Amino acid sequence: MAKKVGVAILGLGVVGGGTYQTLVDHHDFYLKTQKVDLTVEAVLDKAEARLDALGVPEDLRAKSIDEVLANPNVDIVVETIGGVGVAKVFVTAALRNGKTVVTSNKELICKHSHELEDIAKRNGCGLYYEASCVGGVPIIRTLLDGVQANKINKMMGIVNGTTNYILTKMAGEGADYAETLKEAQRLGYAEFDPTNDVEGFDSTYKLSILSSMAFHTKVPYTKIFREGISGIATEDIAYGKELGYTLKLLAIGKNTEKGIEVRVHPTFIPTAHPLASVNDAYNAVYLCGDAVDDIMLYGRGAGALPTASAVVSDVIYAATHTEIKYSTFKNTANAERNVKFVSNFASAYYIRLSVQDKAGVLAKLTGVFARNGISIVEIEQKGKKEVGENGEVRVPLIIVTHQTHENSVKNAVAKLGETDMAKVEAVIRVEQ
Ligand code: HSE
Repeated sequence: MAKKVGVAILGLGVVGGGTYQTLVDHHDFYLKTQKVDLTVEAVLDKAEARLDALGVPEDLRAKSIDEVLANPNVDIVVETIGGVGVAKVFVTAALRNGKTVVTSNKELICKHSHELEDIAKRNGCGLYYEASCVGGVPIIRTLLDGVQANKINKMMGIVNGTTNYILTKMAGEGADYAETLKEAQRLGYAEFDPTNDVEGFDSTYKLSILSSMAFHTKVPYTKIFREGISGIATEDIAYGKELGYTLKLLAIGKNTEKGIEVRVHPTFIPTAHPLASVNDAYNAVYLCGDAVDDIMLYGRGAGALPTASAVVSDVIYAATHTEIKYSTFKNTANAERNVKFVSNFASAYYIRLSVQDKAGVLAKLTGVFARNGISIVEIEQKGKKEVGENGEVRVPLIIVTHQTHENSVKNAVAKLGETDMAKVEAVIRVEQ
């Protein structure tokens, strides 16, 4: 006889709704393939309209978290509310009541997984969060169970669909950032307040979780260098293309001899790199393991059914495994004390300047770079002339540097800012 496992869903938004639909539609399929009778026993959401739209029967509509937790038929609680307010209260209560929790909440896991995992362990239940990172792409399970033979020294991910959609459209259609963002909002890709996505916060939460797991230590999101895409000009995407680069918002984690380097920023990558062909709202994570070499996982990072795929896969895992497997990284508040983080990281740079078009400017300019120890790979003056109010002619100048350091570039940019000869219009890191 199939094992009977009851599920409660807290929050019936996009992901919760997709989870409900998947569990109901695939009930018989899981019975057959997994030998488990997975049944939705309760749903908690104040919005009657959502419950009605999904046809949730009256007897499954719980009135409170207490009612859900007191239900002896509920074994697994799915949290798809989001944020760290009520979601944290409900998840904590569920774990304290011995219910295994499956969550899609990256902010909750990023900020509080160590304390939640402690509560889970003390109460003999599980805490699963595949859906917290990169939607339907099974990156957490891969890190836990698929590549654990490796020392992973590098990962690069396109972990945010909204920004990837915007950058893809800017590159393809030549539209500017503001225009593309509006279109993305109209189509439902970007939220009304897009800050979390476009300024890179969403990516830092995901990178914190993924790099903590990959490098077996705690990587707090506060240690992650962050720069979003709102300052990106379409002309830089076009100039980069001429140089053989594609622009992506990358989440980069490196485990180096000097320490852990974690950063989220717009990055030029060679157009031949597999990540360069990850377009629109798709996500991908590229990992380098010392035994396996390079791996790339690609798929939909958001959306009702792709994210429900990750949630329900966790539910099935929890329902079919008696021994609970906690994450292998030392995700404790203390662990971070001994970990070194590299803030003055090494990178190559693309720099666009608006320079005075007159004799001697180039020599002075390259002098500033040389005095900061920055070696130039490529320098190109573009034809487009701009005439200022004072009649002064300026032209765009593109510089690509060899590998240098973040602080050297900051110093050079500050020095140039003290002069009239060049205005720094864009600084974009380049990953080879
Ligand atoms: N807002 C995220 C994105 C999806 O645009 O990728 C949820 O993590």
